[in-house]
Amino acid sequence: MSATISAISHYLPPTIIENSYFENYLDTTNEWILKRTGITQRRFLLEGATSDMIVPAAKRCLEMRRIKPKEIDCIIVTTVTPDYSFPATACLVQDKLGCKNAWGFDISAACCGFLYGLITANAMVNSGAAKKVLLCGADKMTSILDLNDRSQAVIFGDGAGVCIVEQSDDPRLGIIDHVAHIDGSGGKYLRKEAGGSHLPPWHSAVKLEDHYIHQEGQAVYKNAVSEMSNAVLELMKRQRMKKNDITWFVPHQANMRIIKSVGEKIGLPDEKVVITIDKFGNTTSATIPTAISLLNEERKLRIGDNLILASFGGGFTWGSLLLKWNPYVK
Ligand code: COA
Repeated sequence: MSATISAISHYLPPTIIENSYFENYLDTTNEWILKRTGITQRRFLLEGATSDMIVPAAKRCLEMRRIKPKEIDCIIVTTVTPDYSFPATACLVQDKLGCKNAWGFDISAACCGFLYGLITANAMVNSGAAKKVLLCGADKMTSILDLNDRSQAVIFGDGAGVCIVEQSDDPRLGIIDHVAHIDGSGGKYLRKEAGGSHLPPWHSAVKLEDHYIHQEGQAVYKNAVSEMSNAVLELMKRQRMKKNDITWFVPHQANMRIIKSVGEKIGLPDEKVVITIDKFGNTTSATIPTAISLLNEERKLRIGDNLILASFGGGFTWGSLLLKWNPYVK
């Protein structure tokens, strides 16, 4: 038995923010952003919250799969920008979509959210705890970004990616294996301190600007390159895969240079490495499902294709996953 992605879609807000936008008010240039990050533009959600990006992507997914909302029995939302501290964004999505037979919950794993969500959904389907999981990776990063800090303002964007996870018609296809790790000692390099029980969202926290992301870019960068590569190589070794067996490498999109370095460490040619960061920046939980959804829209996925997903994020959190593409279900 194995679980698979039976439908996948994404939503990106219509407002495009070019690099020149930041040149207008920050000490930065289009050249610097392009050279150091590979980003040319990103999308900002000007009105609404994270669930407002999930809902259109989820509706499209249900249409693709030709099922009604009531057939979804579990909703998982992975995000670090939930609409509220609670109720969980999964509850809001359940209500907005009318998934009256679903339960659900949120997962907080920063840029690894979708990967951990896929591992969780796979385990639930395989155990029989759920039949059709609506897995939503979404973040409104502009709600926690310090737009006056040039080292973070330019790299993030907003977006959502949604898929349905259910039992594959062929147990040799679908979600086959994964590697997942956390290391809490890396938490200090990428965090948002205020808003939780440690530092409630009071005036004092806002004055100290602790309600924004705090990022030490170099430390995150170095760990991202080494741990994403290690996670992929560990998975390939266990699955006895050679680099030629990989059809698509779908990495989390945090920085073009990180992606290129990881691709080189695995020994992959550029054409197998999926890139979306140039147009959308880092949308945290949404990068991987958006990339897969675009591959699917562009008809670049064939049954049995080996997709290796890999991610690294705040926590630190990281991992990899082998998905043998198959949208067909029992
Ligand atoms: N425009 C111009 N200069 C900038 C800049 C910008 N947008 N952002 C940072 N700089 C400057 C720094 O202030 C620093 O200046 P200084 O030498 O005068 O102090 C200089 O560029 C080098 O800074 P550094 O942090 O070493 O740059 P970098 O090449 O590492 O790029 C990041 C910065 C943030 C793009 C990069 O470190 C990165 O992508 N890190 C990983 C982040 C990440 O993955 N986050 C999400 C987690 S998944």
